Amino acid sequence: MQELDIVILAAGKGTRMNSQIPKVLHTLAGKPLVQHVLDTAAGLSPSRTHVVIGHGADRLRAALAASTVSFVVQKEQRGTGHAVAQAQNQLGNGKVLVLYGDVPLIRRESLAALLAQVDEQHMGLLTVTLSDPTGYGRIVRNTDGEAVAIVEQKDADSAQLAINECNTGIMAMTSSQLKRWLPRLSAENAQGEYYLTDVIAMAAGEGVSVCTTQPATAVEVEGVNNRAQMARLERVYQQQLANSLMEQGVALADPARLDVRGKLSCGHDVFIDVGCVFEGEVELGEGVRIGPYCVIKNSTIGAESVIESHSMIDSTVAAGLNQIGPFARLRPGTRLAVKAKVGNFVETKNADVGEGSKINHLSYVGDAHLGRNVNVGAGTITCNYDGANKHRTVIGDDAFVGSNSALVAPVTVGKGATIGAGSTIAKDVSEYALAVTRSRQLEKADWPRPVTTSK
Ligand code: UD1
Ligand code: CA
Repeated sequence: MQELDIVILAAGKGTRMNSQIPKVLHTLAGKPLVQHVLDTAAGLSPSRTHVVIGHGADRLRAALAASTVSFVVQKEQRGTGHAVAQAQNQLGNGKVLVLYGDVPLIRRESLAALLAQVDEQHMGLLTVTLSDPTGYGRIVRNTDGEAVAIVEQKDADSAQLAINECNTGIMAMTSSQLKRWLPRLSAENAQGEYYLTDVIAMAAGEGVSVCTTQPATAVEVEGVNNRAQMARLERVYQQQLANSLMEQGVALADPARLDVRGKLSCGHDVFIDVGCVFEGEVELGEGVRIGPYCVIKNSTIGAESVIESHSMIDSTVAAGLNQIGPFARLRPGTRLAVKAKVGNFVETKNADVGEGSKINHLSYVGDAHLGRNVNVGAGTITCNYDGANKHRTVIGDDAFVGSNSALVAPVTVGKGATIGAGSTIAKDVSEYALAVTRSRQLEKADWPRPVTTSK
């Protein structure tokens, strides 16, 4: 395999975002724009990937610390040609592909098609035909229809401005071609910049054919310059994702009201109601139903589970046939065995809930282990924190915890035990015992209620 260097331009400021955050770090589907480009680039198995940074360089380095890219600093932004030239000394001997860090939806297939044409006699240029080409570099062709130059909007004459075929900025060539052309760029143009686009005329001048290809849809090569474009591309991305989920057999109440910020895998006949957000890696088993306005992050929800509206679920594993919500909050480390039920206004954290156990209303269960068929009454709290350390609550199979109980951990409630409502349980409860800590009810017969006295 021939070597491949990918150069991603990301030094620009992104003034029109009106943001302190470098443009390419703004997120689309929960992921920085430039990370989308990097992920797509990785699909081409490059020998090296270079990211040209300038504005917000430190933030970019930090944000991409986990990637195996090399950073090239462009101190002053003197044009796209100048940007690529910064990476010149690090290029290998094979092909070079130039991408933009603010063009997130480019597909690997389009890039592969472009690269396939490159050799010492050919370079590749990705173009797009737009009804409104304003702002873009125009593709100038000779009478034989060969691309021979790119003219920037600001340098174009009226005939060139009428051209609808535009430069996407994405191009590919051999490393030796690029190294030959870059030193010959000049900044004698309307913007006083070193235009990468000038290499097209150099190629044509040397008899290197400029092979143009177009992406399947124009949105692939759309760049982000402002928040409105950002929001538009987000919707496009989400719609594509929704379409692919529906093709896989997922029922979406409204494909326009779904947000996936990560990877969502679904079994057959999953139903997702409106306004749900999925983050990180989420797996939904067959027949799972998600009510409206749920947020689910890094979780696995087993088959035939029902999640009612407005539930928030993070780093949870639900085995299947579970009922969750409405308004449930399942925090990291929640594990629900089959048929376990967590109802409204219940918060769980680092909790194992055994098969068939129920926590139906208004409870907090944290750092706890519940056996099978435990019933936790409304308003039960595991007091897991003593102000310094966290402690565990263990509740055995078939135990019944009466409403409004406080379980002061560390504490164990034995199998089959019953806790009377309103108890504060600070000592272990034996199997099958009844524990009640509330004071006895007092009754005074025919008690005369106080009356208001006049002053
Ligand atoms: C560029 C192209 C134009 C094309 C358009 C597509 C040139 C001269 N023009 O124009 O033909 O139609 O893209 O969007 O190439 N960048 C740097 N360093 C720089 C300058 C730019 O890293 O010194 C990066 C920017 O961050 C951005 C990308 O390169 O990601 C494009 O730069 P931009 O200034 O937006 O180029 P355009 O003028 O739009
Ligand atoms: Ca641009």
